[in-house]
Amino acid sequence: MNLFSEILDTKQGKQIQQIQQIEQKVIQLKVEIRKYQKEYYENNISSISDEKFDALFLELKNLEKQYPELLMQDSPTQKLYTPKQTELKKSKHIVPMISLGNAFKNSDLFDWEERFSKILEKQNISFPENSDIKYIVEPKFDGLGISCVYENGAFVRAVTRGNGEEGETVTENLQTISDCKPVISQISTVDNYDNSEIFEIRGEVVMKKSVFSELNKKLKREGKKLFSTPRNAAAGSLRQLDSNITRERKLSIFFYETPLKASHDMFKTYSETLNFFDAENIAHSKDYYKCTSLEDVIVAIEKIAKMREDFDFDIDGAVIKVNDYALREKIGATGHHPRWAIAWKFPAIQVKTILEKVEWQVGRTGVLTPVAHLKDVMIDGVKVNRATLHNADYIAEKDLYIGDTVLLERSGDVIPKILKSVYSNKTEKIEIPTSCPVCNFLTIKNEEEVALRCSNKNCPQILKGKLEHFVSKKCLNIKGLGSEVCDDLIEKKLITRFADFSKIYTFTEKDWSEIKNFKIKSIENVLSALDKSKMQPFWRIIHAMGISGVGEKTSKTIAKYYTNFIEFSHISKNSLENLQNIEDIGEKTAQEIIHFVENSENQNLFTQLENIFQTNIHKNNTSVNVSSKILENKKFVITGSFKNYSRDELKEIIEMNGGSCMSAVSKKTDFLLAGEKAGSKKIKAEDLGVEIVDIQCFLDIVEG
Ligand code: IVH
Repeated sequence: MNLFSEILDTKQGKQIQQIQQIEQKVIQLKVEIRKYQKEYYENNISSISDEKFDALFLELKNLEKQYPELLMQDSPTQKLYTPKQTELKKSKHIVPMISLGNAFKNSDLFDWEERFSKILEKQNISFPENSDIKYIVEPKFDGLGISCVYENGAFVRAVTRGNGEEGETVTENLQTISDCKPVISQISTVDNYDNSEIFEIRGEVVMKKSVFSELNKKLKREGKKLFSTPRNAAAGSLRQLDSNITRERKLSIFFYETPLKASHDMFKTYSETLNFFDAENIAHSKDYYKCTSLEDVIVAIEKIAKMREDFDFDIDGAVIKVNDYALREKIGATGHHPRWAIAWKFPAIQVKTILEKVEWQVGRTGVLTPVAHLKDVMIDGVKVNRATLHNADYIAEKDLYIGDTVLLERSGDVIPKILKSVYSNKTEKIEIPTSCPVCNFLTIKNEEEVALRCSNKNCPQILKGKLEHFVSKKCLNIKGLGSEVCDDLIEKKLITRFADFSKIYTFTEKDWSEIKNFKIKSIENVLSALDKSKMQPFWRIIHAMGISGVGEKTSKTIAKYYTNFIEFSHISKNSLENLQNIEDIGEKTAQEIIHFVENSENQNLFTQLENIFQTNIHKNNTSVNVSSKILENKKFVITGSFKNYSRDELKEIIEMNGGSCMSAVSKKTDFLLAGEKAGSKKIKAEDLGVEIVDIQCFLDIVEG
């Protein structure tokens, strides 16, 4: 063997060895990931943090990407984990377990009563006028439906609701729950019970709030995954193959139904059934109300709603049931739910979930905002896993800790709010950062404000936020410079401080080509957007500076008094009074403006921007972009399309010159600004005698 082939052999050998090692690693990762998934999905525990799990997953994904020959169909990256079907035996229900229709407002209850009254009327039956008890109202337990079957008074079977027709047999597990009675002694001795060998009671399995809190404390100590709600904990504890686990979980049951016809013949009414439950010590809610009218029902619902937080178990509404079984029989059921009962649902906008961790985000003003990472939860059909905690004071005021179960509310808007902590172990405090999570500079807190700030004015995160604002639609409106591009500009250090922002106007095609995913077309687009942005009116430049307290409206006002770079950059301490005389500007904002303008770095930025915008600023001073009062109190409607202007731009010109815009033509409209293809608005303006102006005429007016 010559030297060359020897070297080649060793090289190939080394390569093969390396591949084998990687293959080993891939197998090891797959086994490990599957192990954790099995733990999580089948036993509800987790011996690894989410971050570590994600890191393993990513490592596998990267290796498979790098060595596609190692990518197998069964890899956790390709195939979702399907939990092994629990081997709980299925059983058919004697009578289907159907659910309830819902009511959210009083009129739903009246409609419901009217519906079943009509059915009764058709059978010439009316609700007994002077009947003592028409309805029973009781809490709607937030747990899992269960059916318990007794033969000759002895408990023989428990089945979960399942699909309503058949469920999982959890007999052994139920036997570990103290509310499950092994014997119902009196049932076989009741005289008129014609089917004494079979008796069924249905109810709801729940985990009491106090038990839930203890359980989560224990799981936390053991480093296992926590349950997000008592309902989930009850579900996870009931559907266990090992009934010892169910026993440890100390579940409770509230019974509320005896579905078999024989029981109805025996008890006649639900209130009689509840008396029987009492006599037999069968657990049921003691907070039920006997009602003679729907008005009574409404009062009962209000009482239950008031008690909601005081119950040691979760409820999600109230159930209203016709008391008389013979009437129930006549009223009947649809395929999905009985017509003789209805569920009053509390608004579902408040839910409970777990506060898993807190991340401190740095905004463009340098303020650190704590953001709660929550265990995924659905509110009103929306998946939620984040909520703002505002600031350190808010955390202290709500006494929040990591691992707490918190009550979350999503009101009309999209930002969910943490109302309070409902279960807390108070073990892991939320750390208030002493250094910025992005740049590590010390954090500072000014006496007079609650906010915590990063002390580095060139913190990359602050720059990103400021740059995003600078190029945004409401500021310089540079299309194509989205948040990812801004991130990349900062990360690649093409921009390292605020004064560098003007550089985006001087970057060459080569500079832009460094940006991720920027190809010829996107570069062309950005260059043309930058060029176009130089035409922006001066208020947008003021807005783009991101001065605290100076939003869109204030920027527009300021630009009426300081109309260009030169005037604006001459603002100094002496301008305080002048600034304060401007509408909408108070002392604090005036001070912020002065502080900002006097800063030498900001002055540099003005000079550079002035050079870039110069030609256009001059144009602005004589063009339509200048502000005036020429259109004061004039109301415009804009319709049709225009060659050189968008409708938003025209609206801006109208507003800058004192006018305002309306969406529809009416007698109050002064002018209809009509472009090409103006349609019905033009006809209406003609009908009403509103003056119609074309673009040229309009520009002539504003240019004076
Ligand atoms: S009576 C025909 N009473 O709510 C069904 N159900 O959304 C008669 N539930 O499937 C059920 N609390 O699992 C009844 N006090 C209560 C209840 C209750 C909770 C559950 C039950 C039902 C579901 C319907």
